[in-house]
Amino acid sequence: MNSIEVTALTKKFGSFTAVNEISFNVKQGEIFGFLGANGAGKSTAIKMLCGILEPTSGDAIVGGFSVMKQPDKVKANIGYMSQRFSLYNDLTVEENINFYGGVYGLYKRKLAERKKWVLKVAFLEGKEKFLTGSLPGGIKQRLALAIAVIHEPKIVFLDEPTGGVDPISRRNFWDLINELSQSGVTVFVTTHYLDEAEFCNTITLINAGGIIASGNSQELKTKYLTNSILEIECNRVVDALDILSKEPWVRETSIFGNYIHISVEDEIEGRRLIKKILTDERSINVLRIDKIVPTLEDVFIYLLEKDSKKNVE
Ligand SMILES: Nc1ncnc2c1ncn2[C@@H]1O[C@H](COP(=O)(O)OP(=O)(O)OP(=O)(O)O)[C@@H](O)[C@H]1O
Ligand SMILES: [Mg+2]
Repeated sequence: MNSIEVTALTKKFGSFTAVNEISFNVKQGEIFGFLGANGAGKSTAIKMLCGILEPTSGDAIVGGFSVMKQPDKVKANIGYMSQRFSLYNDLTVEENINFYGGVYGLYKRKLAERKKWVLKVAFLEGKEKFLTGSLPGGIKQRLALAIAVIHEPKIVFLDEPTGGVDPISRRNFWDLINELSQSGVTVFVTTHYLDEAEFCNTITLINAGGIIASGNSQELKTKYLTNSILEIECNRVVDALDILSKEPWVRETSIFGNYIHISVEDEIEGRRLIKKILTDERSINVLRIDKIVPTLEDVFIYLLEKDSKKNVE
C-alpha cells in the first residue's frame, strides 16, 4: 500500500523551477531517502508534501489527502522536522515535550502517556528537568524526532535531520528511524550522507529539481552503471589522478582514501592503458588494480555528471 503518491509535482519561484514534475510512490512503512546536492530541491519538495507550500502544479496524495486540495488535513496527519528545526534550548526536556504535545493537541492522560514514550526512546528517563541545550547533539536529535511523532502520525518527514551531527550520534538517530519504520511509520528523509542512503529501502536522487535515479541501493549500483569501476592503488596518488583525469578513455575519476577509482568502458583495455601510461611512461608504481562493485558514491558521481552534461547540451 502506498502512503504517498506524487504526480508531476512542480514548484516555480517566478521563472525559476525549483521542483520539476516529480512523480513517485512511497510504500507504507518504508524508509524513503531523498538525496541531492545543495539547492537540488529537496526542502521545496518536502514542504509541498507536508502541505505547507502550495505546489505550482501537479499533486501528491499524502496519507490519503491531497496536498493541493486538503493541505490542512495533510498537516494534521503527518510529523515534520524541518531542516533548521530545533527544540527550545532554554526549556527543559519536559517543557519542550509539553509545548509540542500541546501544539499537536495532546493533553492530560494522552500527553502523559506519550511523554513517557518520548523520554524512553530519547534515553532521557529521569532527565526531564535537564535543560535541552545541555544535551549531547545525538540525544537532542533523538528527542526532536520523538517529539515530531508525539501525536503518532503514520508518516514523518525529516529534512536533513542529521546535519552537523557526529557519526556515532547519527548511527543512534538512525536506530530510532528504523524502530519507527518497523512499527509501520513511513519515514521520508532527505540527506547528503551516502552512508545514510544505504539505510533506506528506496533511494531517489534529485538534481536541479528533477529525479534522475531511483531504486534500492543494490539496484542503483547495478542498473545505471554499465561501465567498470577500477580501484587503483599506487604511489604519487595526486599525480596519477591528474594524469588519468586527462585521458579520454577514463570516464570518471574520484579518490577514496588513498585509492583512485576510475570508470572505464573496457576493463581489459583499461588495465593495459593504466599500466602503459602510469608505470611505463610516468614511472608511477602501481601496486594493485581491482575491479570493484561500485559504491553509491561512484553511481551518484556518474549520474550527476551525466545529468549536468545533458543540461549543458
Ligand atoms: N522561496 C524561494 N524563493 C525563490 N527561490 C527559492 C525559494 N526557496 C527555494 N528556492 C530555490 O530553489 C532551489 C531549491 O532549494 P531547496 O531549498 O529546495 O534545495 P535543497 O535541496 O533543500 O538544498 P539544501 O541541501 O541546501 O537544503 C534553490 O535554488 C533555492 O535557491
Ligand atoms: Mg534543504
